[in-house]
Amino acid sequence: MDENKRSARYERILKQFEDLIHPHHNALAMMATACALLSHKIGYFFWTGFYLLDKGDLIVGPYQGPLACIKLEKNKGVCWAGINTGKTLIVPDVHQFPGHIACDSRSNSEIVVPLRNACGNMAGVLDVDSKEWDAFSETDGKYLEKIASAIGNYLI
Ligand code: SME
Repeated sequence: MDENKRSARYERILKQFEDLIHPHHNALAMMATACALLSHKIGYFFWTGFYLLDKGDLIVGPYQGPLACIKLEKNKGVCWAGINTGKTLIVPDVHQFPGHIACDSRSNSEIVVPLRNACGNMAGVLDVDSKEWDAFSETDGKYLEKIASAIGNYLI
């Protein structure tokens, strides 16, 4: 997809997200709203959700899409790689990613964006799966990071 079109769509989504959430800056409401908005507005998003650190475990949070694993095996897969590196990871083909955890066998590519709380500590990840191969670009990364950062500001 054309990157300008992709950016323009995210700009509209970001504006809508801000309008929806203002003045209700509640992290859980923001996460749930972000999942619903992204998954309904972006056709190639198959599973959209959050995994949150809870006493050292990565546990599923708000999401949209098919049923997902509740707890991800520690230090395995894409989400844990996002936590451990602190970086956004774009995986064009999940079947090539060592240790990838397939909550749904229809997912073929994935993006994971770290979520930090208001103190800057790692709190979890925003995770999106696509049925398409190589669905995500740096543009997805840039805008999903903006959304994660907006939510993280309200996470303790
Ligand atoms: N694929 C992820 C697991 C979560 S599901 O994609 C919803 C991983 O490898 O960490």
